[in-house]
Amino acid sequence: MKARLRRIGSWIADRAGLEPIFRFLKEYKVPPELGRTKKGWFWVLGQALVFVFLAQVVTGTGLAMKYIPSPVHAWDSLQFLNNEVMWGGFVRALHYFGASAMVVLVFAHMARIVITGSYKFPRELNWITGVVLLFLVLAMAFTGQLLRWDHHGVATVDVAASILGRFPLVGPWLMEIVLSGQTVGGATLSRFFALHVIVFPLLIVAMIGVHLYLALANGVSEPPKAGRPVDPATYRSWYERHKEEGNTRFFPDVAWREVAFALLVYAVIFGLAFFLGPKGPGAPPDPTFTEQVPRPDWYFLWLYTLIWYKPAALDAVVLVWFPLLVFPALMLLPLLFGTGERAPSRRPWAVVAVGGAFVIWATLTAFGLRPHWIPNFDTDPVPAAMLAGAPPEVHAGAAVFYERGCQYCHVAYDRGGDYGPDLNQSVARLSREEMTVRIMMGIGNMPAYAHILSASEVDNVLAYIYWAAERRARPAEERDAPGASDAAEREAAEPGREGPP
Ligand code: HEC
Repeated sequence: MKARLRRIGSWIADRAGLEPIFRFLKEYKVPPELGRTKKGWFWVLGQALVFVFLAQVVTGTGLAMKYIPSPVHAWDSLQFLNNEVMWGGFVRALHYFGASAMVVLVFAHMARIVITGSYKFPRELNWITGVVLLFLVLAMAFTGQLLRWDHHGVATVDVAASILGRFPLVGPWLMEIVLSGQTVGGATLSRFFALHVIVFPLLIVAMIGVHLYLALANGVSEPPKAGRPVDPATYRSWYERHKEEGNTRFFPDVAWREVAFALLVYAVIFGLAFFLGPKGPGAPPDPTFTEQVPRPDWYFLWLYTLIWYKPAALDAVVLVWFPLLVFPALMLLPLLFGTGERAPSRRPWAVVAVGGAFVIWATLTAFGLRPHWIPNFDTDPVPAAMLAGAPPEVHAGAAVFYERGCQYCHVAYDRGGDYGPDLNQSVARLSREEMTVRIMMGIGNMPAYAHILSASEVDNVLAYIYWAAERRARPAEERDAPGASDAAEREAAEPGREGPP
C-alpha cells in the first residue's frame, strides 16, 4: 500500500515537473540560529498568517454559498445561517475569529520585524509589500464588517465614508467610489461584497506570492546581534557564508516549528469559535437612530474612540492626515533606516515605538469599550455646593436624577454617562412637553418612567435639567458656585482627605 502510494506520488511529481521545486525547497538553507535557538519561535508569525488566510478562504467560501448580498435579505440570511444551517453559526464564528487572528498576527509579525530590524537592507521590498498586505487585511476586516448588515456595521462604514469625504481634493470622489453612491445602501453592499470575496482576496493571493518570493530571494533574516550592523557593501556575501556555516535547512529544521505554531493558532480559533459562537448580526440597521455612536469590530474600535474623543483642534489631524499618511509613512521606514544596527539593544527607539503604539492602542480600545455604549455606573452625585442657591425643586430633581439612574445614561450639567443624549443639548431641541413624554413613555433604548416617577418628581427632574443646561451655557467664570470648581472637587476626592462639609 505504502509503496503504491509512493509510486503514485513520484509519478505526479515527475509528470507535473515538481521535482526541481521539491529539490529547491529541500536544499533551501536558512540562518543557523533559526534552527537552534528559542528565537526561532519569533520567526513563525508570517507563515501562520498564510495558514489562517487559507482557512479564511475555506470558511468564507462556505459562507458565500448561503449569504445574500442585498439589504433586504443579508441580515436574514445570517440569522438563517446561525439558526437553521447545520454548523452555519460555527462556520461564521470560525470566519470571525479567523479574521481577528489575522489582524493580531499581522501586527505581531510587523512588531517582530521592527524590533529585530528585519526590514533593513536588502529586505526593503519585503517590508513594503508587507505594508500593502497590512492594508489589504484591514480592508478585508472593514468590508467584512459591513456584510453583517447590522446597525453597527452600517453605521461604522457611514462614519468612515464621511472621513474619506474630507480628504483634500479627491475626498468626495473617493467617498462615492467606496459607497457607490452618496450614502450606505444596497449599492454599497454589492460593492463591498465584490471587494470582500473577489478583489481583495485575489490581491492578497498575488501579494502573498510576491512577499514569499522576496523572502526566498533575499533569504530569511537572521536573528540580529549587537555590534553586527548591516552594511550593503558586504551584507549579501556575509549572509551567504553565514547560511552555509550552519547548514540549517528550511525542511525539516525550521518547518516543523511553523506547522506546530499554525496548528496552535487553528486550535485557538476553533476554541474561541466553539465557546463564544458567531458574532451577531446585531440589531438591524436603523438610519433614524443616530444618537448612538457606532461600535465597530474590536480591530477598529481604537480609531473610533479617537474620532469621538479627539479635541476639536485635532480634527484635521485625526480625520484626514493620520489615515492618509500612515501607510506611506510605514513604507518609508526601510528607505530611511535601511542600514546599520539591527539588534533591539542598539535601537531602543524601535522598541519604544512598538511598545508605545501598543499602549496607545490598548488604552484607546479599553476606553472605547466603556462609555457611550454602556451606561456609566460610576458617576458621582452633584456636590451640594454646586447647587448652592438653586430653588428646592432643583435640589429634589438632582437627587431623583442621580438616584433613579438617569445619570447613568445622561449628562446634565457636567456629569453623567454618554449612553443617551447629552441633556444640555436636548433642552434646545425639544419642548418641555416632548421631554416629559420621552421620560414617561421611554423611546428607543430609553426606559419608560411613567410607573416609577410621580408627576412632581418628573417636574423636579425637568427643573434640574433646565437649571443645569442654563448654568452650563454660561461662561466658565460665572458658572461655578464657590467651592464647586473641578480642582476643589478633585481635592475632595483624594483619599485621606475630608469631603466638603
Ligand atoms: C438605560 C439608559 C437610560 C436611562 C437610565 C435614562 N435614559 Fe433617557 N434616554 C436614553 C436614551 C438611549 C435616549 C435616546 C433614545 C432615542 O432617541 O432613541 C434617551 C432619551 C431621553 C430624553 C430625550 C432626549 C433627546 O435629546 O432626544 C430625555 C429628556 C431623557 N432621556 C431623560 C431621562 C431622564 C429624566 C431619565 C431618568 C428618569 C432617563 N432619561 C433615564 C437612555 C436612558
